[in-house]
Amino acid sequence: MSNVILIANWKMNPKTSVEAKKIFSGIQKDLVKMNGVDVCICAPTIFLPELSKLLKSKKVSLGVQDVFYEGTGAYTGQTSPEMVKPFKVTHTILGHSERRELGESNEFVARKVHYAVSKGMTVVLCVGERERTDEGGYFTFIRDELEAVLSGMKRADLKKIMIAYEPIWAIGKRAEEALDVTSLYEMVLFIRKILTEHFGRAPAQKVPILYGAAVKVDNAPQFIAEGGVNGLLVGSASLDPKQFIGISKAIVTKK
Ligand code: PGA
Repeated sequence: MSNVILIANWKMNPKTSVEAKKIFSGIQKDLVKMNGVDVCICAPTIFLPELSKLLKSKKVSLGVQDVFYEGTGAYTGQTSPEMVKPFKVTHTILGHSERRELGESNEFVARKVHYAVSKGMTVVLCVGERERTDEGGYFTFIRDELEAVLSGMKRADLKKIMIAYEPIWAIGKRAEEALDVTSLYEMVLFIRKILTEHFGRAPAQKVPILYGAAVKVDNAPQFIAEGGVNGLLVGSASLDPKQFIGISKAIVTKK
């Protein structure tokens, strides 16, 4: 059975590189002794050069939280895949709801995904609805977010994609407020169906689907055991090595 994927999204935390290194080392130290889980830490870009020097286990990789769709040029404030690559950065989150909230459209996200993949990065593409209503309009919302990206993609590029389903209404909440596992299972089937429509069954089966939003040690095992996902995207709980390692331990026993 393949390893469970755990993506740590530190967002705009912590404040200093000293703290970042401490959290990173705290996580890596315990992970090296653990089997069955692959971890990618998506830290603020500014900390990556320092963190890359600490990397010493194949079970841990480094990611960014966003990259732009050009290599260099007149794009104030942007960072390109080419710029982060020398720091052993293999992954990028793209389309996180907190960035979409700042104005990123589906088309803009798609352009960045296609560029990052063309540069050999693994993309964690985030999708998720703002709210759930009885009419099920959120399915259309998720389909639109996915199709904007998938329609311009070659089958071969699919190997470089993970889909993180993150219902926005549950992000930053307590464990009890996360999505229930039955609804997660239903959404995972829906996402696989869309992938299958675009690329056929076999390639679609291989795309990792992750769940994110209010993942804590209490609910993580159930998502893995019954939610049909291949991994989890962890926000606030990934800033505390104790909690993050707790999640890792809890899920490897449930695989
Ligand atoms: P959370 O964040 O785990 O703090 O809910 C998840 C995310 O936004 O990626």
